[in-house]
Amino acid sequence: MSHQSPPSTEPSKQSASNQSRGGLDGIIAGQTRLSTVGKSGFGLTYLGYSIEDLAEHGTFEEVAYLLLVGRLPNSIELQAFKDRLAAGRSIPKPLRKTLERIPSTAHPMDVLRTVASMLGTLEPEGAFENAIKVSQRLLACMPTALTYWHRFHREGKPREFDLDEPSIASHFLATLKNRKPTEIETRAMDVSLILYAEHEWNASTFTARVIASTLSDFYSAITGGIGALRGPLHGGANEAAMELLDQMTDPDSAEASLLTMLSKKMKVMGFGHRVYKGADPRSDIIKPWAKRLCEATGNEQLYAISERIETVMRREKGMFPNVDFYSASLYRSLEIPTPLFTPIFVLSRISGWSAHILEQRADNRLIRPLADYTGPEPRPWSPISQR
Ligand SMILES: CC(C)(COP(=O)(O)OP(=O)(O)OC[C@H]1O[C@@H](n2cnc3c(N)ncnc32)[C@H](O)[C@@H]1OP(=O)(O)O)[C@@H](O)C(=O)NCCC(=O)NCCS
Repeated sequence: MSHQSPPSTEPSKQSASNQSRGGLDGIIAGQTRLSTVGKSGFGLTYLGYSIEDLAEHGTFEEVAYLLLVGRLPNSIELQAFKDRLAAGRSIPKPLRKTLERIPSTAHPMDVLRTVASMLGTLEPEGAFENAIKVSQRLLACMPTALTYWHRFHREGKPREFDLDEPSIASHFLATLKNRKPTEIETRAMDVSLILYAEHEWNASTFTARVIASTLSDFYSAITGGIGALRGPLHGGANEAAMELLDQMTDPDSAEASLLTMLSKKMKVMGFGHRVYKGADPRSDIIKPWAKRLCEATGNEQLYAISERIETVMRREKGMFPNVDFYSASLYRSLEIPTPLFTPIFVLSRISGWSAHILEQRADNRLIRPLADYTGPEPRPWSPISQR
């Protein structure tokens, strides 16, 4: 499939002033063969496959296998991988009990952070040779843990789940909704999982790699990744975008509210990107799915409001939507509660984080940069009686 390459975002062309603003802007912090966001002429690729091809032809399981193993599976390998994932869906009893005790008011990202950490105590990684097994276990059981916690607190009682759905996308939707998802619902969810799977050295992946570089265990690296993803400048943006959309009643008033926000220099979540400068290719893929699902579920007004916000952001700020903006209306059309939006990102990104942890371990050196010291000159110790 042919697609237009985004404008170059080669780090060497980043301006010195950007770098002086901190945030490691434009700095190459290491190497990866897993994906590229910014290499000129590549677009977004996972191990050389374009995100457009992956989203059009692939399934999330194929993409997860690609990231973990380094090549696409044949049909026998794919089925075996899916069988292993299906076998790992159940959650151990002590974890179930913990999920029942976590308050219903907790943020689901905190729930997933706890799940990753607790599973590390129940099923520790042990030797690094077990890493692939751990990554598959996390991929398989995190959706169950999330929907178990959600449903337990909504319904006030434990429940058994049917764990036989053929894919992670349909398993998540089925356990969340207590009904078999339709084909279009499953495919829309699957595409969003593909888009969220991997994205080079973003903040949460960097976090996971830093932790892995200390030779810590797999669960610690994933738990740290979840913590980094939680913030609204990163994964939390899809949830924040939905909260904004929920305040809008129609396109005209949305435009007026947005102009007010911009005049106050407020950030609009779901727009902008550190590396992409002209467009986020994932947004162009998720947007038609959002349109399709919004139209199929009577959410045309939500889609119209979203499009107006996009138009105004382009006109007023020259800014483009990132993957999180249209994910919001897509997930709303799938009747997914807003606080579960960012956790879906986790369910998918476990594949990318896992691949990065494996890559880091394969050629490890402690990640330990320097800081430019801006504190006081050396000075004498002052005894407490003289302070
Ligand atoms: C993603 C993001 C953190 C990248 O930011 P960055 O490279 O650090 O850029 P900055 O935050 O320094 O922003 C640069 C300028 O653009 C503006 N800007 C950036 N994103 C903006 C947004 N979403 N809405 C409005 N203005 C925005 C900033 O206010 C700033 O303006 P200024 O120079 O007048 O102060 C930023 O675009 C953002 O916060 N977006 C919203 C959160 C989001 O959607 N995150 C998901 C990313 S996939």
